[in-house]
Amino acid sequence: LPLSRGPVASLETGRLSRPRNEVPIVTLSEIRARFLEFFQEHGHTVVASSTLVPQDDPTLLFTNAGMNQFKAVFTGVETRDYKRAASCQKCMRVSGKHNDLEEVGKDARHHTFFEMLGNWSFGDYYKQESLRWGYDFLVEDMGLDPSRLWFSVYKDDDEAFDIFAKDLGVPTDRIVRLGDIEKGDEENFWSMGDVGPCGPCAEMHFDQGEAMACDHPDGCALGVCDCDRWLELWNHVFMQYDRDQEGVLRPLPMKSVDTGLGLERLAAVLQGVDSNYKTDLFERLIACMAGIAGRKPEGEARISMQVIADHARAVAFTLADGATPSNDGRGYVIRRILRRALRHGYLLEVEEPFLYKVCEEVVETMGDAYPELREQRDRIVTICRQEEERFLRTLGAGIKIYGEIRELMKAEQRTEVSGAEAFKLHD
Ligand code: SER
Repeated sequence: LPLSRGPVASLETGRLSRPRNEVPIVTLSEIRARFLEFFQEHGHTVVASSTLVPQDDPTLLFTNAGMNQFKAVFTGVETRDYKRAASCQKCMRVSGKHNDLEEVGKDARHHTFFEMLGNWSFGDYYKQESLRWGYDFLVEDMGLDPSRLWFSVYKDDDEAFDIFAKDLGVPTDRIVRLGDIEKGDEENFWSMGDVGPCGPCAEMHFDQGEAMACDHPDGCALGVCDCDRWLELWNHVFMQYDRDQEGVLRPLPMKSVDTGLGLERLAAVLQGVDSNYKTDLFERLIACMAGIAGRKPEGEARISMQVIADHARAVAFTLADGATPSNDGRGYVIRRILRRALRHGYLLEVEEPFLYKVCEEVVETMGDAYPELREQRDRIVTICRQEEERFLRTLGAGIKIYGEIRELMKAEQRTEVSGAEAFKLHD
């Protein structure tokens, strides 16, 4: 693979032993491969993504972070034959504590399904190495301009602050202290759910520039507003506590590290675009939908195509991992996402099943990295299409009744129709 450029960072200084190769790494597939290779070079075992449908965790509907599969390792209940791991994890944030469903389509950086790159230390290295390697990966390896990187630390985490300021030479006006869990402010304090491993975190953000600034009354600034300018790329969580049912924080048996780097966000920065939806893999899905709708991906139509692209990924990946649309729990979440996509199809005046075709494009674009997509292609296409047909029938019947009610009201110059009358129309 041409990605094996071999810049190995020294364990003592964390610095690269030779300058980074000039060939830029930009596609999502390349970034994914290079990240895993980088951490392998730093002694990590590369672990496969766990399934999106958690097998033995009743607290979760879907896998929502790379650390889920290591939950019992953090709490000391389970041990592995490695102390450092790295992965690219399939995640869904559509329910429970981490739910981004309503953000999708509104901004340029939230998704239902996304890929999270991560590295972990289980009682091995801690803040120093994690932050150094994170910084080096972004600056030395990926070539990001360090003057556009901003950092945040938990309110009293002087250790992380000093690593950024003194060891990595970050100007202190680009390091912000955030959060205060005693006051209910969980900024820079990460937990998987209401119970379980948690701890303070340090985040690495990319300043997307003045042009993307918002007009927040207190000023557009990291920690003040929540706009696309301050793009959170990488979260480094320092796992120290286990939160119990009563909300009490108990120290974990060992201090660990859990990081998460948004692959789509890093790709957007490296590809010089202002939205995750303009990155290579998303553009292919949007082009696919534009072809189906026979419309250009512009204006409102583009927003709908973005939502459809996002939701097609969620549907394809969850169906591949064995979930099925239904009327409760996990299945209901999938049904809702699928129907939300169909509603956007309607806005594009596509009234025939179409989502299964976009799901096929997901299989084409991501099947190399996730072979389960190819293995489950028939399941994905069949179930998605059946769901679409069923919903469109229901929607079609509803729209017909609505039309008849309107006709009745117009003909009789009425402003109200009772439920009983509407049901009669249905007969
Ligand atoms: N678990 C943390 C997160 O999801 C870091 O990976 O942000």
